[in-house]
Amino acid sequence: TAPSLIDTFQRRITYLRLSVTDRCDLRCQYCMPERMQFLPRAEVLSLEELHKVATAFIDRGVTKIRLTGGEPLVRRDMIDLVRAIGRRIGDGLEELTLTTNGTRLSEFAEDLFDAGVRRVNVSLDTLDPVKFEELSRRDRLSQVLEGIAAAKAAGLSIKINIVALKGVNEHEIADIIAWAHGEGYEATLIEVMPLGEVDGDRIDHYLPLTQVQSDLEERWTLESDAHRSGGPARYVRVAETGGRLGLITPLTSNFCDGCNRIRVTATGQLYACLGGREQVDLRAAVRSDDPDAALQAAMEEAMTIKPERHHFSIRKKGEAPHLPRHMSVTGG
Ligand code: GTP
Ligand code: 5AD
Ligand code: SF4
Repeated sequence: TAPSLIDTFQRRITYLRLSVTDRCDLRCQYCMPERMQFLPRAEVLSLEELHKVATAFIDRGVTKIRLTGGEPLVRRDMIDLVRAIGRRIGDGLEELTLTTNGTRLSEFAEDLFDAGVRRVNVSLDTLDPVKFEELSRRDRLSQVLEGIAAAKAAGLSIKINIVALKGVNEHEIADIIAWAHGEGYEATLIEVMPLGEVDGDRIDHYLPLTQVQSDLEERWTLESDAHRSGGPARYVRVAETGGRLGLITPLTSNFCDGCNRIRVTATGQLYACLGGREQVDLRAAVRSDDPDAALQAAMEEAMTIKPERHHFSIRKKGEAPHLPRHMSVTGG
């Protein structure tokens, strides 16, 4: 078998985040502007090309693939790609999963389960329909809740991703966690990251998780939990609900030394770090005369550009984002 992918800091790469589209049917304020300029469709990899990329990584030791976006389920025929990659489960691949906003889960939950998906992460920052519409600029909360219920009914495990936002969901976070745990879902809190221009200023809504954690501790007992999901979250258990709570803290506590991830954009650009500037062009590789050899070379190159850590920092008001690139392009 081919050697595994190891970067210059001796970290083994086993987790591929593959963005299948930069498009989204919501417009969350912290993620993108209302008039987001999406990539021209011609630049985006075909489903066959995405499959080829995924296969090349599985052959080099990637055991976990997360399909992301934008919103992965808005891409036409996406389920065909899920099925195709799903055939490698048990043959190199251990987990195939998605991060979704949930708006189309009602339609796809059963197909996802049949394709081998067992777990999905759903982004949901508020349970208040008015706030949801304000935050995502679309009136879709009931659709998302129906989608989540359909996913549960289809047998999928669910994790609710909550971006902590001052003045938006700050006072609702505990209730969202309580709801999620009551439904049998995990919940994960995320610090908002300075990626790409948005209409407002993210710093107005930045809420450090150190603060959220101490607020939660006034209501609950948080017990340490050594669980790892293969992602960046550290976990605690809420004694009162019995549920698990993840904390993703790119700004208050760096987790890069254990990083096992790389990400590929919908246009086939590999970023070895969410905060990285250097990229490797996998699209040129898959479209070359000898795609297999070119992909091997590109994967090797990727290992040389993975930085030791990201350098996100809390921005001052009015300061440009850390990177011009939006999260929806690199898939998080
Ligand atoms: P699990 O498999 O459930 O652990 O999921 P995950 O946390 O790996 O994936 P998800 O798509 O749910 O990501 C949650 C958040 O973590 C998103 O906001 C991602 O952008 C962020 N995230 C994932 N990997 C990294 C990373 O390497 N660096 C930073 N800064 N953020 C990351
Ligand atoms: N900072 C933090 N999280 C973000 N997401 C999108 N943009 C940002 C940002 N700038 C979140 C989504 C989703 C996950 C994949 O990334 O809400 O849960
Ligand atoms: Fe879409 Fe996710 Fe960005 Fe919201 S955070 S606009 S759901 S890509």
